[in-house]
Amino acid sequence: MKKRILSGMRPTGKLHLGHLVGALDNWIKLQDEYDCLFMAADWHALMSEYEDTALLSENTLDNVLDWLSAGIDPNKATIFIQSHVPQHAELHMIFSCITPLGILERCPTYKEQMREVKTRDLNTYGFLGYPVLQAADILLYKADKVPVGQDQLPHLELTREIARLFNNLSKKETFPSPDAILTKTPKLLGLDGRKMSKSYMNTINLSDTADLITRKISTMFTDPKRIKLTDAGHPDICNVFSYYSIFVPEVKNDVYNWCSNAKSGCTECKKRLAAHIIEKVAPIQQKRALLLKDKAGLKKILDEGAKKASSIASETMKEARKAINL
Ligand code: TRP
Ligand code: SF4
Repeated sequence: MKKRILSGMRPTGKLHLGHLVGALDNWIKLQDEYDCLFMAADWHALMSEYEDTALLSENTLDNVLDWLSAGIDPNKATIFIQSHVPQHAELHMIFSCITPLGILERCPTYKEQMREVKTRDLNTYGFLGYPVLQAADILLYKADKVPVGQDQLPHLELTREIARLFNNLSKKETFPSPDAILTKTPKLLGLDGRKMSKSYMNTINLSDTADLITRKISTMFTDPKRIKLTDAGHPDICNVFSYYSIFVPEVKNDVYNWCSNAKSGCTECKKRLAAHIIEKVAPIQQKRALLLKDKAGLKKILDEGAKKASSIASETMKEARKAINL
């Protein structure tokens, strides 16, 4: 029996290169070795962006299309939309009865968002319970492993705590204690050198045209000490160089040489990088164009995914209800 993995993404906008190297590439590798469930967490998107849901279902389908285009294979993994499996909400409700307020209020991701996010009002009952829903997502499938980035580790810790609480209170070992699979990818920074994020408008999206990618890369910050073409550059502090390391490691040494020996200018260096990135996203975009033509095919994948997920989820819910005498 393969071990089970569950992971999810919150569909709040277009997927970008950060999602590709930070999560998707890893999911693609895991789908052979594990029984994988990949979920578009639209209820989580609602918790954080409830004020404007106009694009919610469009973003959700758009993200799933990007997953499939990048290589997530519906014959290997179960792909579904969270809100299509209502058991997530039921387990979330039960967990919310046993989760102490303090551990939610102390959660570092919660505190950070409350401090940092100024454009949306996150002072809601639902947003505080964001990690409780995530615990339900994971435990509903009794996942053994959860591939996540570093920032999500507190949510996994909370998941284990909630499982422990439920098991102790009901004196039954209903839920296992899942482990994180930490994605070891180097952090991909955005065009401006900050974390790549939609809210900083510094992303390169998987769906960007070749022109747009070239234009965006031309605006990237480089080694600030390299002013003239004859100045030697310092690739180690240049974001353009870190893109080479991540996306085209095979030419990394050449770039290091041109740069540190001032053999090539930054404009040229960026043009070449753009060509490599365009080459990397081209097959994803071609596949996407094909998938877009087959709306019924996408619906079928998601219907089958929800059906498979539901059948596991309903078994777990039977056990969970029984454990607490519902
Ligand atoms: N909170 C996760 C994020 O923002 C998304 C998510 C929702 C998730 N449910 C999950 C990740 C379950 C792993 C497992 O990245
Ligand atoms: Fe960065 Fe390339 Fe310019 Fe060197 S040549 S500073 S690696 S953009």
